[in-house]
Amino acid sequence: MKAVILAGGTGNRLHPIDSDVPKAMLPVFDRPLIEHTIIQLSRHGIREVVVALSYRARDIVGYFGDGARWGVKIRYSVESRPMGTAGALGLLRDIIDETFVVVNGDVVQDIDITRMITEHKAAQARITFAIARSETPEQYGVVKLDDSGAIAGFVEKPRSSDGAVESVSAGVYIMEPDVLASVSYGVAANLETDLLPRMAANGGELAGSVQEFYWRDIADLVSYRAAHKDILAGKAIIEIPATHIGEGIWLGDNVTVHPSAELIPPVFLGKNVTVRPGAVVRGGSIIGENTLIDDSATVANSIIGQGTWVGAGSEIDNCVIAGGSSVSSESVVRDYACLAAAQSPGAAAREIASEVRV
Ligand code: GTP
Repeated sequence: MKAVILAGGTGNRLHPIDSDVPKAMLPVFDRPLIEHTIIQLSRHGIREVVVALSYRARDIVGYFGDGARWGVKIRYSVESRPMGTAGALGLLRDIIDETFVVVNGDVVQDIDITRMITEHKAAQARITFAIARSETPEQYGVVKLDDSGAIAGFVEKPRSSDGAVESVSAGVYIMEPDVLASVSYGVAANLETDLLPRMAANGGELAGSVQEFYWRDIADLVSYRAAHKDILAGKAIIEIPATHIGEGIWLGDNVTVHPSAELIPPVFLGKNVTVRPGAVVRGGSIIGENTLIDDSATVANSIIGQGTWVGAGSEIDNCVIAGGSSVSSESVVRDYACLAAAQSPGAAAREIASEVRV
């Protein structure tokens, strides 16, 4: 069976950490977001993956190549201009001729895809999609169910939900190949606003898969941080590429922690991280690979991107620091997301930091 990962969107709500990488390549525990999806697909026996790309396609192709490293064969469909989530699928009609899986490339989820495929076949649906429950449905496509639980329609990003918990599409679908013929070739269109509402109106073509699963759309810095915390807390079946040495501490290869430094769980330290004398890392912090936490620095409740230097005596609390940043000694940075600021003095880092509050 083939799977398509939709990863061509521009995304614009993760400033500043996505200034240098497409959203699909944002690190989640030192792995690009869609690498977790490719691993999941492979676990469910899927051996052929098509990645539908547009924005910054080269970054993704360069990293994944032919997919051999992950035990899958990866092909790429590159749109010269974004075709939308349905339009992107419409371009694939010549290479897909059997039931296939579609996954949004910007979600962290552990949906049981094998079970979805079984449910899809049993329901004889044209599209089966995973249904999640959300307390913030105004950010998503809301699925309207009728009294019998059948899908009656869609409302894309409703203006207000008045706090109601609603059923939303989790961005994972099983589809029949003839669905692709329902999309006009070469015309931009979206699944949630065009194809799915049209099919819902026809009746009987859509089925929902309601299972217990972890799901988070990485739409903004809040959800980016929440996904890391949830994975650290074991709420999602997502592999953390490090050794769990116990008590909520994950260490990548070649990590050096000075005996006088302190790690207060849960924490993740990626490979080649160095924690110097007297430094403290705590409170659900994620330290990206090749980062140096210098003497007596404190990092709490923060995500520090790969290859960052946290200067001696500095304090970072409740921040997302983009990879490649430099936080000068004795800096105090709280409640902010910081741009990569290599070579910047502490004051400049703080100035930049003040752009985005997290
Ligand atoms: P936000 O609205 O900020 O979340 O931006 P987005 O561009 O990521 O849009 P959306 O959440 O609707 O996208 C869902 C998934 O589809 C993401 O993984 C996107 O990368 C992908 N996607 C969105 N638009 C396109 C497109 O035109 N072509 C392709 N190939 N993928 C797309």
